[in-house]
Amino acid sequence: NGAGQDAKNLRVKLVLLGDSGVGKSCIVLRFVRGQFDPTSKVTVGASFLSQTIALQDSTTVKFEIWDTAGQERYAALAPLYYRGAAVAVIVYDITSPESFTKAQYWVKELQKHGSPDIVMALVGNKADLLEKREVAVQDGTDYAEKNGMFFIETSAKTADNINELFEEIAKRLP
Ligand code: GTP
Ligand code: MG
Repeated sequence: NGAGQDAKNLRVKLVLLGDSGVGKSCIVLRFVRGQFDPTSKVTVGASFLSQTIALQDSTTVKFEIWDTAGQERYAALAPLYYRGAAVAVIVYDITSPESFTKAQYWVKELQKHGSPDIVMALVGNKADLLEKREVAVQDGTDYAEKNGMFFIETSAKTADNINELFEEIAKRLP
């Protein structure tokens, strides 16, 4: 690459938040292992995985991913995982308006208590379940725009937009 431009190696702490069952663990499994588990078990506490991607300018980004548990009983643990995170990925399920409401709760929580320069992405997952859609694309787009977030719809099942999600996040890192 160009004069004096060295490749960078970035390390990024990323947290996934969102209602139980929206597909957070499946998104991570798809991104890290290229697999989908239709019998995915609820996460207990949180789980940790990492994955490195290379960008076109030969920068590498190592995502250190905290996949949190969405069940209400674990809500009090969330600050342990989002504290110090450079990126928050807030996930809802396009077939569940309740999960979209919950996503908005997490956005507000992070605006109050997250790092001031946190990069936030809003993700509408299960985009393969089009016939069951109950949250319009426009609703996600509008909410994300109002809150200065990046928005994308994904499917962990078909892999649609999963790599794109992480690539777009990488491009937005400060
Ligand atoms: P908690 O760990 O309880 O917070 O839930 P989670 O958000 O991690 O959900 P998980 O990834 O375990 O997925 C819940 C269910 O949704 C599983 O039965 C998955 O197979 C299913 N699922 C996840 N992603 C998709 C998707 O993109 N499409 C479809 N059709 N099903 C999905
Ligand atoms: Mg999980």
